[in-house]
Amino acid sequence: MTGWLAIAGLGPGDEALITPEVTAVLAQATDVIGYVPYVARIAPRDGLSRHPSDNRVELMRARHALELAAAGGRVVVVSSGDPGVFAMAAAVLEAIESAPEYLATDIRILPGITAMLAAAARLGAPLGHDFCAINLSDNLKPWALIEKRLRLAAEADFAMAFYNPRSASRPEGFGRALAVLRAACGDARPVLFARNVTRPDQSLRIVPLTETTPEMADMRTVVIVGNAATRVIETPRGPILYTPRSA
Ligand SMILES: C[S@@+](CC[C@H](N)C(=O)[O-])C[C@H]1O[C@@H](n2cnc3c(N)ncnc32)[C@H](O)[C@@H]1O
Repeated sequence: MTGWLAIAGLGPGDEALITPEVTAVLAQATDVIGYVPYVARIAPRDGLSRHPSDNRVELMRARHALELAAAGGRVVVVSSGDPGVFAMAAAVLEAIESAPEYLATDIRILPGITAMLAAAARLGAPLGHDFCAINLSDNLKPWALIEKRLRLAAEADFAMAFYNPRSASRPEGFGRALAVLRAACGDARPVLFARNVTRPDQSLRIVPLTETTPEMADMRTVVIVGNAATRVIETPRGPILYTPRSA
């Protein structure tokens, strides 16, 4: 039996935002592997083994998936959003690079809608021109590198999306990031705090940079900071924001 491995994005939460391609591959799977809450999104069925694991064991999870595929399994590694954005696709490729016996594995990476795009679409088009995405977690990289990228992105006037902004084990980092932004931008540009986007308890809030506080973000929040030209339009249905395509 020939196994294969798919690394699939489940989107930001709403089942309607899972692509038909991902739904089809999940229907063929013998094994689903991923972080506990992502695997919980896949309904149990006969013939499917679910393998939930902790968030911090990405490389072990990747090796486990490769082993199952090598043994003939039809394996789907699930990520939230897009699997290539701060998620499992890179972890699986890193595992393959360090274990050449897996080089011939039949691997497909199936995209999903990443949190920043879902958040941006819910409240306008803040990423309408040049932008970057930065993971604010210093679990896998030093804070000095995060701070450098933040400062240079702000100086280059990118709009920015921040993932993993603030966790219980890293309560200080986001406050430091806001301080860097205030120093580099020096204005009241709009910041979107988008929590649990597309889920039933979604919350969206636009706050001027000068009024932001660290407590506005947690690990269920993606934060989008506009560039110098990003503006808010007040509509009868509430504020929306956009970044002009000329700036
Ligand atoms: C490990 S990263 C995974 C990102 C994911 N691969 C993606 O493309 O969206 C987890 C971070 O994504 C963001 N995130 C994921 N889903 C979200 C949602 N529905 N609403 C807001 N933020 C979300 C949060 O910043 C969270 O801390």
